[in-house]
Amino acid sequence: MQPSFAPITAHGGRDYPTGYSLMNNGLLNKGTAYTDAERDALGLRGLLPARIFPIEQQVKRALGNLRAKNSDLNKYIFLNALQNRNETLYYRVVLDHLEEMMPIVYTPTVGQACLEYGAIFRRPRGLWITMKDRGRVAEVLANWPIQDVRLIVVTDGERILGLGDLGALGMGIPIGKLALYTACAGVNPYYCLPITLDVGTDNPSLLDDEMYIGIDQRRTRGEEYREFIEEFVQAVEARYPRCLLQFEDFGNHNAFDLLARYRDRVCSFNDDIQGTASVALAGLLSASRLQGMRLADQKLLFFGAGEAATGIGELFVAALRDEGLSEAEARAKCWFFDSKGLIVMSRDKLPANKRAFAQNVEPTDDFLAAVKQLRPSALIGAAGVAAVFTQEVVEAMAQSHSRPIIFALSNPTSKAECTAEQAYTWSKGTAIFASGSPFPAFEYEGRTLVSGQGNNVYIFPGVGMGVLASASSVVTDSMFLAAARELAAMVTEEELAVGRVFPTLTNIRAVSLRIATAVARIAHDSGYARVPRPADIEADIKQRMFEPEYPSYV
Ligand code: NAI
Repeated sequence: MQPSFAPITAHGGRDYPTGYSLMNNGLLNKGTAYTDAERDALGLRGLLPARIFPIEQQVKRALGNLRAKNSDLNKYIFLNALQNRNETLYYRVVLDHLEEMMPIVYTPTVGQACLEYGAIFRRPRGLWITMKDRGRVAEVLANWPIQDVRLIVVTDGERILGLGDLGALGMGIPIGKLALYTACAGVNPYYCLPITLDVGTDNPSLLDDEMYIGIDQRRTRGEEYREFIEEFVQAVEARYPRCLLQFEDFGNHNAFDLLARYRDRVCSFNDDIQGTASVALAGLLSASRLQGMRLADQKLLFFGAGEAATGIGELFVAALRDEGLSEAEARAKCWFFDSKGLIVMSRDKLPANKRAFAQNVEPTDDFLAAVKQLRPSALIGAAGVAAVFTQEVVEAMAQSHSRPIIFALSNPTSKAECTAEQAYTWSKGTAIFASGSPFPAFEYEGRTLVSGQGNNVYIFPGVGMGVLASASSVVTDSMFLAAARELAAMVTEEELAVGRVFPTLTNIRAVSLRIATAVARIAHDSGYARVPRPADIEADIKQRMFEPEYPSYV
């Protein structure tokens, strides 16, 4: 059966609440935009001031109030309240002012919001399922009022952005991520459920804080943790069999473990590993275009070998395999340097994600020496260690390549491996630079150079929308590979000319539509889709995309 992406208002079309309860239902509420006829028909007369304001006026008022706030955290709190009160208006504001809203709805402000989550929590907007709920997770899940959830973003709060273990305070992340699914790809908010699995925290300042909102224990680990996750996954499968489960901000070890365990069994993915990989690969594809090189001509040296870095390595290998290289040839082009130095075969106790990339050379813990010896065409930083792409490192890159690729992906800005200005200046304007956090455009010898921000938001909303529209039973690497290619293909010649390796963010809905179409096509072609193939996949997805517009109730 075709999944029903009917507008929320159709929601049965008949059984929506009226009167005071309608005003308190954020999914349906129109606030002062209710017409006279609606006010009479729905029992709203008197609950609202007399004057009727169309949505454009409401947006204007909301923006005025928002911009008057004196801090980004206060703006976040204001937007959060608006989202609870009137989702349509919230998404209208966010979508029409995406570049202004993105840093408030998500990074960096969401990090601050998580730190303060105990103080700013007002009303439920998702579920906390705790270790103390073991044995009755299904009962807790049943408390969520929506019958047809299709998309869950779940975290256990262990690795929130660059902030580390925030335990139950991590809730801001799944909420923010789901808001981006709706704003950027039109996933209907009705289908979205944010979940935080509260398994305790090892953060001493939270354990000592009497106002901490999570369970008062250290993190459960090992078999007990795995059993708890399994109970959670089974509860989700039982209540929401068509649901896409996105794992978000889990600690390094658990992230890889959960991905390996569930990727073939449950419709799920890990954005920190696979989404990051896709956006970075898109950047490498655009950079190769700028250099006039093939992807297979690249040699990558990663600084860091965690979720982001080895995820990128694996997708790069998949891309090269797709271009005809053997597994060994593709892996020979990926080099990793972590806190112990170059990842080599002689190293003891390498975790599986690193072992897959160990090279048969002598060890070294001197990064500059490794750069000079290996002469990589691209440096990719994802270790969360600031300033490691030093002047000597960048100069060495520029000496061995006419257009060296320098991706400084660590977040936040203070953790970047180098700044855009440094990369451009030290490479004498030749570097192709992208970063995790945005940098302003930079003037170099009369040229304006614009770096790219490798923001995962280019990828995950479109992938999720494609999976939902096709009701795919799994999320595959081929989908992330296709997403990377679509994203790279959307970079225009003009954008490339100024150094941009990603399209401008204002195009995000078009980007997401294109990615969703490619992903749904793969689901249909590979037999993963659980709905009939529409005649025109793109048109089908487009008409399912949630538009923040008020329905007429009478
Ligand atoms: P992770 O904890 O999984 O991995 C960190 C890796 O860095 C580990 O392999 C560790 O051995 C290595 N490392 C740590 N200290 C080091 C040192 N002193 N020298 C060399 N290597 C060192 O973390 P994850 O998820 O891979 O994130 C890493 C960074 O990438 C973070 O700053 C994160 O913000 C950024 N990131 C950027 C994204 C983007 O630009 N779209 C998306 C995801 C992550």
